[in-house]
Parts: sequence; C-alpha cells; structure tokens
Amino acid sequence: MEGCHQLKRIGVVTSGGDAPGMNAAIRAVVRIAYSKNLQVLGFKRGWEGLMTNTYVTLTPRSVGGILQLGGTILNTSRSPQFRRREGVKKAGETLALNKIDGLIVIGGNGSFKGALELSKETDTLIIGIPATIDNDVFGTDETIGFDTALNTAIDEIDKIRDTAFSHERIFIVEVMGRKRGFLALTVGLTVGAEIILVPEVKHEKLNIFKTLKENSAKGKKSGIIVAAEGIEDISRLAKEIEENTGAEVRLSILGYAQRGGNPTARSRLLANLFANKAVELLVEGQGNRIVGLKKGEITSIELGKSSKTEKPLDLKLLKLANILAM
Ligand code: F6P
Repeated sequence: MEGCHQLKRIGVVTSGGDAPGMNAAIRAVVRIAYSKNLQVLGFKRGWEGLMTNTYVTLTPRSVGGILQLGGTILNTSRSPQFRRREGVKKAGETLALNKIDGLIVIGGNGSFKGALELSKETDTLIIGIPATIDNDVFGTDETIGFDTALNTAIDEIDKIRDTAFSHERIFIVEVMGRKRGFLALTVGLTVGAEIILVPEVKHEKLNIFKTLKENSAKGKKSGIIVAAEGIEDISRLAKEIEENTGAEVRLSILGYAQRGGNPTARSRLLANLFANKAVELLVEGQGNRIVGLKKGEITSIELGKSSKTEKPLDLKLLKLANILAM
C-alpha cells in the first residue's frame, strides 16, 4: 500500500513510560502536520485510546504552552490487552473508523513492538518517534528524554557527593534503565563515579571491594557507585561492601524523578527534528519506520529491524570511565 496514500488525517499517540520531551514532540507533530494541511487526532492513554476509540482533536492552538512541560498531555499507559491479537485488531478498527492515514507512535521499544503488531492489522502508515529515558532503541544514537534524565540524575548525584565526601562514605546510587545500562553508564561517566555497574557486564564483588580498598589507601575515602536498576539486590551489596572494606555505605534510589521535569534543550531539539522527519515520511507515503539520530543526521530505519534488534552498549565508555576514576 505504501506510496499510494493521499494523506489527510494523522493520529498521534504516546505509549509506555513517559519521557521529558514527549509534549514537545506532540506539539511539533501537530504544527508540522497543519503546515501540510493535515488534521491530527491525539489518542489518549497509549494503546488504550486506540482500542477504545478515545481521542482529542489537536490543533496548533491546543498544543500551545506544552513545549517545556515534562510528561505527556495525551497521557500514557502500559496495556497488557494490546499484547493480545483482539486488542491489536480493535486498534486497527479504530484507525479505519476515523480514516487515519498515518499514525505516529511516540515511545520506546515496547511501544514499537506493539506498533509492529498493529502494522500487520492495518493499512495505516505507522512511524515511530523514539522517546524513552532508557535510550535503548536500536536505530538511534539517542532518544527523546535521555538527555533530560541524565541531567536530572547528575544534579542529584552531585549533591549526594557532598555528603559522601563530608562523611567519608560510599554511596550506591541506583538509576533507571530497565534491563539496559545506557543511563547508568553515561551518568556514571559524567559524575565521575568510582564504579559503574551495568547489566551488560558481569561484575565481580571481589573487584569492587579491591577497588574501594585501593581508593581508600590512595586517600580517596569517599566514593560513588552508580548502579543500573536490577543488577542485583543493592542493599545486600551495600552490606557486603561494609563487611569486606570497613567503609560506611549508604543507598540512594533516584527513581521516577528521572522520568519527569522540563525537557532540556537537547531533548526538545530532538523532539522537533524527529517530529519533522516523521511527518515528512508519512507525506512521502512511507510507513513502518522509526526515525532516529545517526552520527548527527536525522535518519530512519525499518520498524521491524528496530524492534527486533538489541542496541549495543558502548563498552569503550566504561573503560574510559574507569580510567578517569583513578
Ligand atoms: O522505560 C522507562 C522506565 O522508567 C524504566 O527505566 C523502568 O524500568 C520502567 O520504565 C518502570 O516502569 P513503570 O513506569 O511501569 O513502573
């Protein structure tokens, strides 16, 4: 069907975990679409809105004042019903009912897997815009919201370091990222963490104890360990560090603050550039793709390829971080 669509009306939906910059992307999609004489419907609460035909009509005015806001005005959710074929079929019917020629899905990996399933049930062209603090989408060097989450985490950890230094303590700071270490690695490097623990690299506890003892002998009496969520039970790790090194250890879980807040300039810029590319692709009659940033260029790759491929973590950064933490 690609190439023979006369585009009139598009839909936009935010799905999965919210990310700062989603609103900037919604605003840009709507305004760019209107500049091309397209109408825009915004489906509410992620896939739920598509399954229940719940939407709002979006206009250049209705998306005024949202550029700088975190979260998503369309709301979002994780929809277990959408993992079943009936749910996906219902969404396809909603697209047909409303004569939606193109759908823009703003979200992360999980959303793109859903989008791929939906593409099998509909002729509507689907384009993904990567927005997640996890930065784990294959096909883009960076996702909308990643930079904001990084800066939020950095602000917090810089503050924690004051206490770590004053009390000569070790802090284990847990950051988000689901099963991937993109956020932990970049946060760790940019706060000068003494140790970074990511799910992609198996860590030896003995090495952690050794590094901390060596640091102490060098005169480094405090330290920050940045740990990706889910690497292991960090309260047990804290106990073991205390028992094996004699250091005083505290835990800090940064949690959902990383998902909120005003998007940084970088997250807003990506939102605008990705939205522009997404609408352009639809106008050209292209679907089943996600847009992305590759070596400084705005590009796109096949949706199926993105959702089925694991994005590699750049382990050179971990090496660099370890050198810098001397
Ligand atoms: O995908 C974003 C993210 O914040 C992950 O880092 C985290 O593991 C997950 O969402 C938490 O999901 P929920 O919002 O469903 O608790």
